[in-house]
Amino acid sequence: MADLSVQFCGVRIKNPVLAASAEPTLNAGNMNKCIEAGAGGVIAKTMTDSPAMRELTTRSKWRFLDQRHEVCHGKVPRAFSLYGRSGLALETPEEFLPEIRKTLKFAADNDAVVVGSIGSTEISGWVELAKQMEDVGVPLLECNFGCPHPKMMPGVRTGMNVGQDFNYACEITQAVAEAVRIPVMIKVTPQVNDLVGFSGRLLDVGAKAVTLTNRFIGFVPDIESGKPLIWGQAGIGGPWVKPLTLRWIREVYLAYKERVAIAGTNGAYDWRDIVMFVMSGADIVEMCSAVMVYGYEWLGKQVKGLEEWMDAKGYKSLAQMKGIAAEAALPYANMPSEKARVIEDACIGCKRCLDACFYNAMQDGGEKTHVLEENCIGCGGCLSVCPQAGAIEINVV
Ligand SMILES: Cc1cc2nc3c(=O)[nH]c(=O)nc-3n(C[C@H](O)[C@H](O)[C@H](O)COP(=O)(O)O)c2cc1C
Repeated sequence: MADLSVQFCGVRIKNPVLAASAEPTLNAGNMNKCIEAGAGGVIAKTMTDSPAMRELTTRSKWRFLDQRHEVCHGKVPRAFSLYGRSGLALETPEEFLPEIRKTLKFAADNDAVVVGSIGSTEISGWVELAKQMEDVGVPLLECNFGCPHPKMMPGVRTGMNVGQDFNYACEITQAVAEAVRIPVMIKVTPQVNDLVGFSGRLLDVGAKAVTLTNRFIGFVPDIESGKPLIWGQAGIGGPWVKPLTLRWIREVYLAYKERVAIAGTNGAYDWRDIVMFVMSGADIVEMCSAVMVYGYEWLGKQVKGLEEWMDAKGYKSLAQMKGIAAEAALPYANMPSEKARVIEDACIGCKRCLDACFYNAMQDGGEKTHVLEENCIGCGGCLSVCPQAGAIEINVV
């Protein structure tokens, strides 16, 4: 059987599927359910000393949206969006730390890991919260520099407001890393230009891992009422975001693979996605939205699916898969030459491929389509629109 365990910043985690810091990890009761379901661990809801960020959670709102970005009713499609807002942990640090303590005990009995997450508005606050988390006994600490909501809250300098200010983010990271002995992970916002350079700076000042990435800010009008859903701008994400996240995971992995641990989050729906995250360079994957749609059990199902798939493919460990797709990606200049070929016996002559060929390579041959080789550059548009499996091949020439 495949070994799903990971060494993450020196901490053994039994499998790479963790519940992300969010409502499924809002308190000990919720975190225990994630652990019971089979998650390798939980990242606790972000503990904060900001009353505004606690208060925001008392007014949390979200909607699952379909492909048209309209509110789902009952059936949530695979490519859904989670449009919503929520603040940080509801309790003050003094009230929240006992929740962590309870979860740590339950986690120890179930071979799971509890990661602390913190968010403050002052450097001294970050340091204080980090020390409190270390004292309570978490083996890893995540600093939330990615939460999108403070961007919509004038004067609240935390979350994405920190993640977009690289100098300030590095100051906090250095102060926290110097104040605690446990490894520090930095969860970043995707709404910046250069996550590779930023990640390098974070590692230079003491971070041991980066969490790539928190969610985006979006805006969704309801065309019937002419008003925005849930009253205005909100965080947005969902499985469709995955390629954007994987791009950063790949680039950060390739740039710092000797010294970075990567937690992937933002877009992982199921075990197939977890494989994609790992092949792009992630060590562990933090899941939220899919758990909010399907419940805690979703986590355990993905652990099982991952294990079965690895067994079927003959992968013995996650290390065998880690970063393999990241390494295999070619620069544009090195892409091989390809051409389309129509398999005449399979072609049904529907001519869909003619509409999708903008290089005029697909030719109407009456009952069958044929390829004008000198025009074909092997773009592959024809392959995607062809309704007949096996009627078009794209071959390296
Ligand atoms: C309702 C909600 C609350 C969240 N709260 C937090 C939080 O307190 N701290 C944090 O770091 N991230 C928070 N997140 C972000 C998630 O941890 C996660 O990184 C993000 O949703 C992307 O993962 P996903 O695609 O699996 O949903 C929250 C997300 C949602 C949807």
